[in-house]
Amino acid sequence: MVTNDQNRPLLEVAGVSKTYGKQTVLKNVSFTMQPGERVALMGPSGSGKSTLLNLLSGIDHPDNGQILLASNDLARASASTLTHIRRHHISTIFQFFHLLPTLTASENIELTLQIAGVAAQERKNRVNELLEAVELTSHANAHPDTLSGGESQRIAIARALAHRPKLILADEPTGSLDSKSGQKTLDLLKNLTEKHQIALFLVTHSPEAAATCDRTLNLHDGTLI
Ligand SMILES: Nc1ncnc2c1ncn2[C@@H]1O[C@H](COP(=O)(O)OP(=O)(O)O)[C@@H](O)[C@H]1O
Ligand SMILES: [Mg+2]
Repeated sequence: MVTNDQNRPLLEVAGVSKTYGKQTVLKNVSFTMQPGERVALMGPSGSGKSTLLNLLSGIDHPDNGQILLASNDLARASASTLTHIRRHHISTIFQFFHLLPTLTASENIELTLQIAGVAAQERKNRVNELLEAVELTSHANAHPDTLSGGESQRIAIARALAHRPKLILADEPTGSLDSKSGQKTLDLLKNLTEKHQIALFLVTHSPEAAATCDRTLNLHDGTLI
């Protein structure tokens, strides 16, 4: 069953460790996030940032410790609870967008809503609202291969917001963009998560990106410092 205790933090990470073979990638990582809070995660390449993000999205499990999302223990949740959490509570934004190439911009956004079981008319309304919010109404019927990097990432942001998740996980979302598109992406992420009270966990190399968040965590060799 999916639980959601309003008095608890949105995300509670406690004593999380992760080892690949002989390499300990995360060591005793603990932090919490409140609903609507924006937290940046910085750290050198190979410090374990993506590994931590994959644990938060439930794609991978920690060897030790606990991750509670809206009071649901991700490591111990049933497959159906995990599926429900992924469809309704979490979204992920990647460095290279991961749009489906055979679908138009609109259809990429709408797919999230189909998976979440949203009715057709409501899907249309939300897709139109989101295209407007990311300033890409004119590109509704464009396929990803005709979009610039910045435009692709704005569609990916619209897709991530579509089912109104509680938490967006973004893994270096400006890492493949020029500074102008990167800044626009960061502004949209900040403004839209603020407007819709969605928490944002932003993995980044960029101090400018981290500065759009409420606070910054620093990961070094798998330990938060
Ligand atoms: N699936 C995996 N199998 C083995 N080693 C991995 C795997 N994923 C990540 N690693 C290793 O864990 C370390 C941290 O990787 P990663 O989390 O991708 O770092 P970052 O995102 O901070 O650059 C690296 O040394 C990487 O090679
Ligand atoms: Mg990474």
